[in-house]
Amino acid sequence: MERFADKVVLITGAASGIGRATAERLASEGAALALSDVNAEGLEATSETCRAAGARVFAQVSNVADEAQVADLVAAAVSEHGRLDVAVNVAGILHFEDLRRTELADWDRIIAVNLTGTFLVCRAVMDHLLPTGGNIVNTSSTSALAGHPWTVSYSASKGGVYALTQCLAVEFGKQGVRCNSVAPGSILTPIQNEFRLPEGADVKLINRITALDEHRGPETVASAIAFLASDDAAHVNGTCLKVDGGTLA
Ligand SMILES: NC(=O)c1ccc[n+]([C@@H]2O[C@H](COP(=O)([O-])OP(=O)(O)OC[C@H]3O[C@@H](n4cnc5c(N)ncnc54)[C@H](O)[C@@H]3O)[C@@H](O)[C@H]2O)c1
Repeated sequence: MERFADKVVLITGAASGIGRATAERLASEGAALALSDVNAEGLEATSETCRAAGARVFAQVSNVADEAQVADLVAAAVSEHGRLDVAVNVAGILHFEDLRRTELADWDRIIAVNLTGTFLVCRAVMDHLLPTGGNIVNTSSTSALAGHPWTVSYSASKGGVYALTQCLAVEFGKQGVRCNSVAPGSILTPIQNEFRLPEGADVKLINRITALDEHRGPETVASAIAFLASDDAAHVNGTCLKVDGGTLA
């Protein structure tokens, strides 16, 4: 399948997990890539795999929470590849804590990366997506769609990503730019190392029943992102695609 032949795709958070799996999936479908992350070593590793798969890859270390770095990243990506067709916002961080012990600094850090970072990238890419009739895929979370304890800042940031996505879908849809999000459930990536319950927490509140449990690798989210970013999803705009195996409760 070469759904991304002649397409240029920007991916943040490409050094690890879902971002890496998305880069590899899109490389296998013919995309030219602009990859970014704060983790230089992981970014290089992803770039190498994608180049080995035949993709043209531009990579730049960049912090999505930094306005100037995001502007520089997008300008450099467009200068390198000559155009931009898709932006995939994957960069994100997780924090577990009881509300009462959530420091303002933790709240600010999570919102800055997950929500402000998504906003900054969306804003910076829009003028490049309008001429190509491109699209954006953002990464929300099932924590934005149902109660998820001890993640007040994370859940709020992902709820913001969900709403921001719907906003852009309506604001730019008629001008030819789609915007969708994915909402992964529990996916086995390094971000899960942050998972720790606060003292005295009732584990039943977090152990949701999932209908399917055997496909929890990041490649299952990557394939959903690839669908939304492709022309197969030409009439899909403003949707949030859950990739959670079917959460029952
Ligand atoms: N794994 C899950 O269970 C799960 C569930 C729901 C949503 N998500 C979301 O999926 C996305 C990817 O997470 P993952 O599971 O692949 O985790 P991950 O930790 O493997 O990947 C996250 C990547 O984001 C990068 N990153 C962090 N801060 C950054 C910043 N300021 N600027 C640029 N890059 C930055 C990290 O270096 C890392 O490479 C995140 O937005 C996460 O919230 C993950």
